[in-house]
This record gives sequence, C-alpha cells and structure tokens, in this order.
Amino acid sequence: MEKLIAPSILSADFAKLGEEVESVIKAGADIVHFDVMDNHYVPNLTFGPIICESLINYGIKKPIDVHLMVQPVDDLIRNFINAGAKWISFHPEASNHVDRSIQLIKDKSCMVGIALNPASPLSLLDHILDKIDFVLIMTVNPGFGGQQFIPNMIEKISQCKEIIEKSGRDIKIEVDGGIGIDNIKAVKDAGADIFVAGSAIFKSKDYVDTISKMKELIK
Ligand code: DX5
Ligand code: ZN
Repeated sequence: MEKLIAPSILSADFAKLGEEVESVIKAGADIVHFDVMDNHYVPNLTFGPIICESLINYGIKKPIDVHLMVQPVDDLIRNFINAGAKWISFHPEASNHVDRSIQLIKDKSCMVGIALNPASPLSLLDHILDKIDFVLIMTVNPGFGGQQFIPNMIEKISQCKEIIEKSGRDIKIEVDGGIGIDNIKAVKDAGADIFVAGSAIFKSKDYVDTISKMKELIK
C-alpha cells in the first residue's frame, strides 16, 4: 500500500481550523488525524463530534481519522460515525467489550483501528486480527502533542509487522507520537504504513516543504 501522511490537528491553530486542514491537504496530507481526549482516559481535553462535522461541512473531503482517547468509547463511536468520520481507533483498555466496540465501527463500514499505548502488549491483538483494519501504535504516551518519540517502539513496530504478516491479513500499522523528519524513515523501515505527525507539520514554517520531505523519506 501507498504510505499515508496523517497530520494531527491537535497542533493546528484552532482559531482557523478549517483553513489549517485545507492547507495541510493542499500540502499533500492523505488523511486528517483527529485526537479526541476526554480528561478522564487521558489528562487533556480536546474536541468532539461537532467539530468533526463542521470540518466536513466546511468541505474537507479527505477521510477523518478519529483517534479516541476516551473512556467509555461506544457512545462516542456512534456519535463520530454520525458526524461523518471514516476511520476510528480506540484503546482496548478503555472499552468493556472490545469485540462489541469493533463491531459498532464495522457495522457502519468504517475503518477500525486498535490503539496501543507504549506499554500495552501486542497480545491485546489476539482474537481480533480477523476484524480490524489497522493497529495504531502509540510512540509516546497519549495526551499531548510535541512529546519525544520513545526509541524502543521501533522494535514493537517490527514485532507487530511480523504478527500481521503471519496472520496473512491486510492490516495497516499507523504510528503516532514524536514522528518527524529525523525518525520517519526508521519508523517506515520497521513496518509502518501511516504516519501521524502533529507538531512536526503544524509547527513548521512551510507545510508543503515538510510534508514533501516526509513523503520523500518514506517512498
Ligand atoms: C497524542 C496524540 C498524537 C499527537 C501527536 O496523544 O495521539 O496524535 O497529536 O503529536 P506529535 O506529532 O506532536 O507528537
Ligand atoms: Zn493521535
């Protein structure tokens, strides 16, 4: 599969969110990473389904990739699907019934992802590999943009890739946290397909230049 760049709007200027998203799409972004935090599962508070819907009504056509860092998850899954989200991932520890939460997403033909914190074991994927479309490997602890990439996550990405290959299924690996020009190639070489980047893109002067460099490095 073609490698995808997913700017995390957590680091965008919220006062002009529509324009910011439009700019990164014009600069080459493939999907829009949308970090939902509830000040309960993670110690921060961001945005909900009405903001997702506003972006779609504003004219954003690229898929919105909703990363739910919330507990509980099922009501927000339903609300984001109604708001037009196309990709949804959640943290299995935050759901009482992981298989049921997966099914809620699949029933509406959205892409379903399982998000794993840095210390969450890959064994959480046991018994659900036949149902998911992607694994979101957190390479920082969830809650904030602009944190440092945790180096031993490279090994975890490789192990995840091996598990997926053994399963023979078409499951993508999305990586999230501390990704930038300096480490994107190493992360790709370990097996990642989708690259979330917040501060590395939105805090850069020139989105076109940053995203083109990233694309060049993962070609
Ligand atoms: C962290 C979020 C990330 C974050 C990444 O909890 O899930 O998506 O926005 O930001 P950077 O790329 O700045 O680490
Ligand atoms: Zn995220």
